[in-house]
Amino acid sequence: MITSGCEAATSNGMSKIVIANWKMRPETLEEAEDLFRISDGAIVCPPFVYLEEFSKIKSGAILGAQDISLSDEPGQTGEISGEMLTRLRVKYVIIGHSDRRWKLGETDEIVNRKLKTALVHELMPIVCIGEKSRDTDFEIFLRNQVMSTFAGLPSEQIEKCLIVYEPVWAISTTPGAKPDTPESALESIKIIKDSLIGNWKLEIGNSPKALYGGSVDSKNVADFLKEDEISGVLVGQASLNKEEFKKILDIVSSL
Ligand code: PGA
Repeated sequence: MITSGCEAATSNGMSKIVIANWKMRPETLEEAEDLFRISDGAIVCPPFVYLEEFSKIKSGAILGAQDISLSDEPGQTGEISGEMLTRLRVKYVIIGHSDRRWKLGETDEIVNRKLKTALVHELMPIVCIGEKSRDTDFEIFLRNQVMSTFAGLPSEQIEKCLIVYEPVWAISTTPGAKPDTPESALESIKIIKDSLIGNWKLEIGNSPKALYGGSVDSKNVADFLKEDEISGVLVGQASLNKEEFKKILDIVSSL
């Protein structure tokens, strides 16, 4: 059974959720283990190659994956199936990250199919939604991305997802990136939730948890998390620096 994101955070003694997205780093297993051991209470999404080793380590961190194959059909060179992930005690999977949407050509249709595959395997989806630029059309963009990402899913399934509002322009690897402000992140989260509630007739109390991602660090994390409607953060760059990530976790535990 998929637990809700809220239960996952509560079981780790934190009222807010912290997700570490390591992308294609660190370079060695030794560094990776070092980081994993200090990530108590966080959902850690390492590169696939570290998952097997981490599945054997006793730790307060929960395992997540950065991607999932579209289906379990075995003839897919280079892919990792949902079944393989669950065997390694992976509980979460990132779906529709902008790196995959924009740098690797993942279409809305692929994102939608991956989301459905994750749910079949009872992996909790961490669904990323976010505009490329904050222009006059950003609201329409967000509403369309929500519609195509969740197309065909029943409301009970949507309620189980964690949604991350992650504008591409705020991600640290985007040239000229700067973090969003809590106020404008909240505005976007409201648009995303409104779109889900309106189109899927979700009950307000049952709408999925929404998190923020994009240049989160120890200096700004508390500002985002003081908002009731921001249930957590997705941290990239700062989750790869042991001292910095420890600081973030300490701040979140103290909230
Ligand atoms: P960042 O990355 O925290 O380095 O901006 C977040 C992400 O892309 O998931």
